Amino acid sequence: MSKNLTSFQFEITPKDRINLSGHNSLVIWITGLSGSGKSTLANSIEKQLFEQGVKTMILDGDNVRNGLNNNLGFSFEDRTENIRRIAEMSKLLIESGTVVIASFISPFEENRRTVKRIIGENNYFEIYINTSLETCEKRDPKGLYGKARKGEIQDFTGLTSPYETPLNPNFSIDTSSSDYTIKLAELISVLSKKITLNG
Ligand code: ADX
Repeated sequence: MSKNLTSFQFEITPKDRINLSGHNSLVIWITGLSGSGKSTLANSIEKQLFEQGVKTMILDGDNVRNGLNNNLGFSFEDRTENIRRIAEMSKLLIESGTVVIASFISPFEENRRTVKRIIGENNYFEIYINTSLETCEKRDPKGLYGKARKGEIQDFTGLTSPYETPLNPNFSIDTSSSDYTIKLAELISVLSKKITLNG
């Protein structure tokens, strides 16, 4: 725990930065199994919001784990610390007037609740990708399910480590479904409304 710290009262406030951005900040939190299509969905959301002039930033499992969180593995404790750091980073980005698109397996409900608590409920929009384990394993884009089945990877989500289904997501989407494009358009419209200033 940190002691002897006093926050300086900076003159430019988060609200000032949000006004300069011209839209509200938000953390769009995408949760789902490995291979469920989180990064692809994050990419589509960012492209469409970016084209609308929204200041965006992507935080994604593999890129954050290659940098800031490169000392963390996949035990419950490490995943908890992974998500806590990402939540704190998201909080700073929110104060900068940014729309954050965060895509992480984030398999534990407790960790997702921590994100909500750290950034504030109003700033949190949860998307649950409910693509089935069977489909994700069939896709196996990185060959990780194959390795996990052979016992070459431990604590693999969906096989040897649990994925807790979100209890109350703001939006659910199945990337393997035939109505994916329609759902995506619906999602973008919900998000655009949510970040409209005074909307
Ligand atoms: S989380 O559980 O802590 O939220 P995160 O989204 O950051 O996970 O990282 C997941 C990525 O790490 C996966 O997309 C996959 O490429 C890789 N990975 C490596 N080992 C594992 C594992 N044991 N379980 C899940 N993903 C793993």
